Amino acid sequence: MQNLTNQQTSTLEKSYTREDWQGGYQSLTQEFDYWIDDIEGQIPLELQGTLFRNGPGLLDVNGQRIHHPFDGDGMISRITFNHSRAHFRNRFIRTEGYLAEQKAGKILYRGVFGTQKPGGWLANIFDFKLKHIANTNVIYLGDKLLALWEAAEPYRLNPYTLETLGKEYLNGTLSEGEAFGAHPRLDPSCEQDGGQPCLVNFSIKPGLSTTITIFELNLAGKVVRKHAHSVPGFCFIHDFVITPNYCILFQNPVAFNPISFALGMRGAGECIKVQPNQPTQIIVIPRFPQPGQKEVKILETTSGFIFHHVNAFGMGDEIFVDSICYNSLPEVEPGSDFRQVNFEALTPGQLWRFYLNLNDGTVQQKLIEKRCCEFPTIHPAKVGRSYRYLYIGAAHAQIGNAPLQAILKIDLETGERQLWSAAPHGFMGEPIFVPRPGAEQEDDGWLLALVYDATYHRTDVVILDAKNPEKGAIARLHLKHHIPYGLHGSFTSQVFLPN
Ligand code: CO
Repeated sequence: MQNLTNQQTSTLEKSYTREDWQGGYQSLTQEFDYWIDDIEGQIPLELQGTLFRNGPGLLDVNGQRIHHPFDGDGMISRITFNHSRAHFRNRFIRTEGYLAEQKAGKILYRGVFGTQKPGGWLANIFDFKLKHIANTNVIYLGDKLLALWEAAEPYRLNPYTLETLGKEYLNGTLSEGEAFGAHPRLDPSCEQDGGQPCLVNFSIKPGLSTTITIFELNLAGKVVRKHAHSVPGFCFIHDFVITPNYCILFQNPVAFNPISFALGMRGAGECIKVQPNQPTQIIVIPRFPQPGQKEVKILETTSGFIFHHVNAFGMGDEIFVDSICYNSLPEVEPGSDFRQVNFEALTPGQLWRFYLNLNDGTVQQKLIEKRCCEFPTIHPAKVGRSYRYLYIGAAHAQIGNAPLQAILKIDLETGERQLWSAAPHGFMGEPIFVPRPGAEQEDDGWLLALVYDATYHRTDVVILDAKNPEKGAIARLHLKHHIPYGLHGSFTSQVFLPN
């Protein structure tokens, strides 16, 4: 099947060049602060609030290249929309590692994804001191702006200035170095809390068996529930989904061989190997475990590797989970350069729906979208609920693996698709759906995304009408510079501008 796909795509004209794509993986060393004045179209007056984005800002330290973008120092970009104007600011998160390396002018830490200190294995042997890079997500909760990285505690920033305030322990709930995941889900209406929204997150403590801790926080940022569960085996879990009653995590079939990491030859991420003949375990944890209730249910399926889920919802004993699956995980090899990736040789992420039957433990799966896609977003009020529309970063071409250049809207009820593509020179980041204030329809709102434009080596903030993304951008805000390809972000209706 994969060979067929490769043959098909090789005969087609590519929608991009690798050189164009590589431009988005240059470091941004400068920190900016300005009103955006180069705008095509018009920013909707009703779009009031702040888009925060996180991602690796540095792909090298003073010219020494890092091995994988996941190892890059976290940088927050903030775009504030106020009365049809927009303000931009970016700041690096002043983690201990960032400050130390900037002062030294060289790489001092090993990265999870293979960045090594110079000097070969001898300089890296038995060095388990990983750098906290705070680069994966950013959320605003209870007057706190938090930069999230799944292997440790969040960093807190001032939302007005983006100044780093230090590590955040959630009023003493987290201990020093305790993990707090990078993919929280906001339950729009938690029955347990009288219908108030609550933020649900998880953390993973890996080992021969794995401890999964569930956190639930109220809108003031206070942890109201925390419970831990042990599951067998080594887990690599980046994301999860919730329903009103359950947390659902997919334990990818991977094995971890720590020997070459310990010996300094590979990063920890390079020691993870996909086990294609083993099943994926689906871990279902009740959000409100009752005394005496058997806590964790584990179901099995034959899916591939999953980084991200779209959403989940329950109907009786059946739970539906929509996720982006890869047939295999590209292995990060020592000495390889991620900028030279051969997209066509990799398998695309594709959208699948899983049907979990909690009664009989069976799982069925169905392909929803075969186009290469990643970074989904939905209406925030539909998290954990049945929903109709999803929006996702997608490849320009219908088949094969390629960089994300487009946004695909899928109507799960009618099957209708709409695509807006920034090809050939534009490269798409994670879209965020923002509902229009007072809107009643699920797709009445905007899609906000950062698009790297290789023609000018700069990034645009693109605003699309979520009802009709294929009509093209309502507004394209040209930044004065590029922003390296980022990971995740969020939108708040609060307007944060410089003091
Ligand atoms: Co993610």
